[in-house]
Amino acid sequence: MANKIVVGTQWGDEGKGKITNMLARTADVVVRFGGGNNAGHTVIVGEDKFELHLIPSGILYPEKQNIIANGVVVDPEALVQEMKMLEEKGVSLDNLYISEIAHVIMPYHRILDKAEERRKGAGKIGTTGKGIGPAYIDKVARRGIRFIDTLDKDRFYKKLSETLEYQNLVLEKVYGEKPLKLTDIINEYQTYINILRDKIVNTSILLEEAYKNKKDIFFEGAQGTLLDVDYGTYPFVTSSNPTAGGVCTGSGFGPTRIDDVIGVAKAYLTRVGEGPFPTELTDEIGEYLREKGHEYGVTTGRPRRCGWFDLPIIKHACRVNGITEIALTKLDVLTGIDEIKVCTAYEYRGELLEEFPLESETLSECKPVYISINGWQEDIIGITNYEELPVEVQNYIELIEDSTGVRVSIIGTGPEREEAIIR
Ligand code: GDP
Ligand code: IMO
Ligand code: MG
Repeated sequence: MANKIVVGTQWGDEGKGKITNMLARTADVVVRFGGGNNAGHTVIVGEDKFELHLIPSGILYPEKQNIIANGVVVDPEALVQEMKMLEEKGVSLDNLYISEIAHVIMPYHRILDKAEERRKGAGKIGTTGKGIGPAYIDKVARRGIRFIDTLDKDRFYKKLSETLEYQNLVLEKVYGEKPLKLTDIINEYQTYINILRDKIVNTSILLEEAYKNKKDIFFEGAQGTLLDVDYGTYPFVTSSNPTAGGVCTGSGFGPTRIDDVIGVAKAYLTRVGEGPFPTELTDEIGEYLREKGHEYGVTTGRPRRCGWFDLPIIKHACRVNGITEIALTKLDVLTGIDEIKVCTAYEYRGELLEEFPLESETLSECKPVYISINGWQEDIIGITNYEELPVEVQNYIELIEDSTGVRVSIIGTGPEREEAIIR
């Protein structure tokens, strides 16, 4: 029995969906513990491509339990749409469960998210506009709506009318937006809730049962370490804790029961949205990575900013997540680049910084210190045996192992589920 966390080590989009889906073959339960439909996880199985935003990627195996736990903020409209998309592709949703205490994204959250970005202007975060931040704000401010509140019509009416009074004040007086009507929201949301009703349960009890029955539980991270509201590039972060610690509060599963933390790292870096990015490439190599790696957001379609691999970032991620093994993805995208650079430290105002700085203005002034590595020309797509990798690729992997002290146990050699090396 092994319970594992899959966590992003960078700014998201490291390939967590593919790695979770691949490893989940041996799991019994797959759990999303944080974030919302700001996430976009791509899983390619044969000819089929699945883009999942809220539903754990274990859903593609019919026999596994899939849980959207309490740490997730759920837009029921988006969830119902995603369920429909999966059903149309023949995927069964019988084993999907949603925490009764997960917070619900309401229409005003989406409006407030976009309105606040407009107000910030040039200083915007570059959010996905899905209402994630405002939903977490309401959760912490103790005025959120949870699924359990929506199950009883009278309770839903009462709770929503209380919070809507506040929300409409903010919409009108702060942002000059139109107020929303209580009955419109109730009517719309009743439709979604009726579809979801049977799936809304106390998911921490499901996890307890699975644990007692010695089942393997996988926690599928969304976002990444540098988007963590505590350990990311604040304020250019999301509003939750996508780091490993978020699993316990986000699912009601205690830390003593977790065996392994797999950190997913892309072989180069990408970032969507605003904020500092020391190794960003704005030249033709950045363009090459974006096109070859198809680096366009799954959720918003925005082009992802691309840059060289950064060792201070992976070391930071290993530390704050307690990573026990690394899954290195998209090495195949680096094929064909003659000279590959890796950032080993930063230069900040004449000083050498070996550790990742936690303050964004400092980080934006950091100049990366690089070492150069010989690239490789051989196509590595689909290789499944480590020994068959060109020596330059092995050197790249060993550099990461040496500087983190963590073994790279999984290596992505292509987008498909089977295209990987397990060492
Ligand atoms: P996630 O949000 O962490 O699940 O990652 P995304 O799905 O947003 O982005 C990762 C992209 O890289 C997806 O299009 C995957 O299909 C693709 N991908 C994952 N691993 C590999 C790999 O090893 N090689 C290549 N070429 N593509 C990969
Ligand atoms: P996955 O799970 C990449 C980024 C947004 C923005 C910031 C805040 O696919 O790796 P938010 O809407 O969360 O308030 O936006 O966080 N962001 C992601 N970037 N991958 C993600 O998820 C992301 N989820 C949020 O682009 O910069
Ligand atoms: Mg993604």
